[in-house]
Amino acid sequence: MKKWEIAVIPGDGIGKEVVPAALDVLKAVADVHGGISFSFTEFPWSCDYYMEHGKMMPDDGLSTLRNFDAIFLGAVGNPKLVPDHISLWGLLLKIRREFEQVINVRPAKSFRGLSSPLAEPREFDFIVVRENSEGEYSEVGGRIHRGEDEIAIQNAVFTRKGTERAMRYAFELARKRKRHVTSATKSNGIFHTMPFWDEVFADVKRDYPDVATASYHIDALAAFFVTRPHTFDVVVASNLFGDILTDLGGAIMGSIGIAPAANINVNGKYPSMFEPVHGSAPDIYGQGIANPIGQIWTAKLMLDHFGEEELGAFLLKTIEDVTADGIKTPDLGGTATTKEVTEEICRRLYKRS
Ligand code: NAD
Ligand code: IPM
Ligand code: MN
Repeated sequence: MKKWEIAVIPGDGIGKEVVPAALDVLKAVADVHGGISFSFTEFPWSCDYYMEHGKMMPDDGLSTLRNFDAIFLGAVGNPKLVPDHISLWGLLLKIRREFEQVINVRPAKSFRGLSSPLAEPREFDFIVVRENSEGEYSEVGGRIHRGEDEIAIQNAVFTRKGTERAMRYAFELARKRKRHVTSATKSNGIFHTMPFWDEVFADVKRDYPDVATASYHIDALAAFFVTRPHTFDVVVASNLFGDILTDLGGAIMGSIGIAPAANINVNGKYPSMFEPVHGSAPDIYGQGIANPIGQIWTAKLMLDHFGEEELGAFLLKTIEDVTADGIKTPDLGGTATTKEVTEEICRRLYKRS
């Protein structure tokens, strides 16, 4: 029996609804498999925790998490209680950085049973590889003066190591897929970092002559996600561009509520972290209608990470069977609750075992 130790951080808002849902599904998956089990250890780190303790997680939080095989996180952020840059840099971004989760893998594809808001979408299936440790997300900069002399400076930091690493990851992934990588650039408007990004892309692609490439400015690329998403295979993007593109990826599938993500530690020194693309959705929290699929598909990415790809594929197929039969939350045009969707997925997992 293989046993996986998972640290669970539901976080804020609908994280507290969709994480328990996905844990039920993982328990069902383990039962169905018979040869694996999960041990879940839950941590209450969140904005509520901050209100009580003045910090998002305890000082030894990272050393506690370090011993787990993976971290399964819902969403962080309750701007009514804590400013977003404090809560996110105190928990989610801290874990991504300290645990060197330098790659964020975010798939998007035509999903059975869902109507995309695109009028006549062709089948699409792509993965955004998002650089996850640097770029536009940096603490380098500062603010001086107040009032009309006030200045805010935010520096983007692009290292050759980090940029190349994301690109190589994208090319290696493309080799297992349709052998095509698209680079998201903006070297017409961003004077230093994006021409550098293009140079590194040109260098890296020389090592992958068997992989076709394209490079588009992020503005045009965003439009292509709408007008011809079927033409993409792997898209490599900086931290911010990847962030924006993947909400769009969720939207063209039918809802941000289904988009999954994996923060990958590639050097094996620390656990990877699995959390969906969406946030804590304070606008719908507490109603029991949050779509659990983003979190459940994220659990599938965690299974893949553990080498249980067959089981992961079975889970994704089961989720799609449920949407194809019209059992959907309101964001997808349905009337089902979080609980109903989750129970239906579990029921079908058991049925096919
Ligand atoms: P959001 O993703 O939480 O919500 C955007 C919209 O999508 C909302 O209308 C919401 O109701 C809807 N939505 C999102 N997930 C859904 C789901 N599973 N089912 C149904 N509808 C869903 O983005 P936001 O409103 O910009 O951010 C809210 C908070 O979450 C902020 O504090 C933000 O910083 C934080 N956030 C956290 C993460 C994370 O922890 N990974 C990601 C994004 C945003
Ligand atoms: C995401 C989120 C985070 C990000 C925020 C909450 C800091 O939007 O994971 O997509 O921008 O990385
Ligand atoms: Mn985002």
